[in-house]
Amino acid sequence: MTGQKLYQRARKRIPGGTQLLSKRPEMLLPEQWPAYYARARGAEVWDLDGRRYVDMSYNGIGACVLGFADPEVDAAVHGAVDAGSMCTLNSPEEVELADLLCELHPWAEMVRYARCGGEAMAVAVRIARARTRRDKIAFCGYHGWHDWYLAANLKPGDALEGHLLPGLEPAGVPRGLAGTALPFHYNRSVELREIVAREGAELAAVVMEPVRGTPPDAGFLEEVGELARKAGALLVFDEVTAGWRVNTGGIHLLHGVTPDLAVFAKAISNGYPMAAIIGTGAAMQAAQETFISSTYWTDRIGPAAALATIRKHRAREVPRRLVEAGTRVREGWRQAAEKAGFAITVSGLAPLGHFQIESRDAQALRTLFTQEMLERGFLATNAFYATYAHTNAQIDAYLAAAAEVFAELAKAAADGRVHALLKGPVAHAGFYRLT
Ligand SMILES: Cc1ncc(COP(=O)(O)O)c(C=O)c1O
Repeated sequence: MTGQKLYQRARKRIPGGTQLLSKRPEMLLPEQWPAYYARARGAEVWDLDGRRYVDMSYNGIGACVLGFADPEVDAAVHGAVDAGSMCTLNSPEEVELADLLCELHPWAEMVRYARCGGEAMAVAVRIARARTRRDKIAFCGYHGWHDWYLAANLKPGDALEGHLLPGLEPAGVPRGLAGTALPFHYNRSVELREIVAREGAELAAVVMEPVRGTPPDAGFLEEVGELARKAGALLVFDEVTAGWRVNTGGIHLLHGVTPDLAVFAKAISNGYPMAAIIGTGAAMQAAQETFISSTYWTDRIGPAAALATIRKHRAREVPRRLVEAGTRVREGWRQAAEKAGFAITVSGLAPLGHFQIESRDAQALRTLFTQEMLERGFLATNAFYATYAHTNAQIDAYLAAAAEVFAELAKAAADGRVHALLKGPVAHAGFYRLT
């Protein structure tokens, strides 16, 4: 398989093999995953051998909310390229996009840009620290690779366990940052209350995704906002993945809790690098009290892509379709699993659905699911990130294949043959060094 051969070369040249942990073939189907693509359009992907798949997995790791190579977004990008995507002067789309983001989020008055989610989160944290002149950050969930965040793991144990990605190694993060990133778990406001009671006077920000795997308990987000406000810390909502899925804008708009800062990336620009930090004027003005500046944050492609994506998102009521497609898949998983006598638990926002296999051998069974679905022409794992490009015909074909595979998995588990049926190793479940 050409992709796997290339990946074996990559592992020797590129430490860790890829630039994003979630794109490592070992995370999905070691030694068998196609690894590289030649072409992608809509929900379809062609690998280096010309084999076609329907992507029923992460769809650009959540970046391509409209589908791969969306024609309207690509036309806007071609326009930006033809007009010169980089210049000594600034691109006017920056101002247009800032106005649009503030129109969609009436509490926000100012906007800065970056190009990736993690770096935009680092910008937000810097702004919060500059604004409050304090160092500590209470947080919940995953927020990228930067020092402020990985500092949580400088203490013995794995503070990031239970925050989407366990086992993130903080080697290279200055030990002086130990004790500056203080984790609490979603829906456990008692943990944040303890942090505030202990370290509230040093707290610069409370950083979290407003919603992700589970809905907020009644009053949870309100209490978080109140605790942050009382401590004099900024509330920062990370909308990198949850935003633009069930509504046009941040998901916090549906929950009635207003942050001081919110961060967007991924879905706002349908696969072109772009990120935005929006905030109240009072919070955002602190960006002028510290140095935050980068050449490629000024390119024209990012804002042009974001404007085209957001306009289409709003005009076509994209979230409605994302919820519908995601719900169809989740219901399909449930029905197929029940019929096969295969125990799963479904969770996540409708367009970011996920199933957990209830077995001690869950990771091997999940690997086998990916292997068998790949043979049937689907990129698949135990999650589905819906896009506007997915058709019901594609979803139904996928669900028919998944029903067959669930039945196979149930039989393999009953016969103790799960490992025997795997044609390669079991997938990795988190961050590991590749040998
Ligand atoms: C909630 C959240 N924050 C931040 C990030 C980091 O974004 P990026 O990978 O663009 O740096 C991610 C990526 O998955 C995310 O889901």
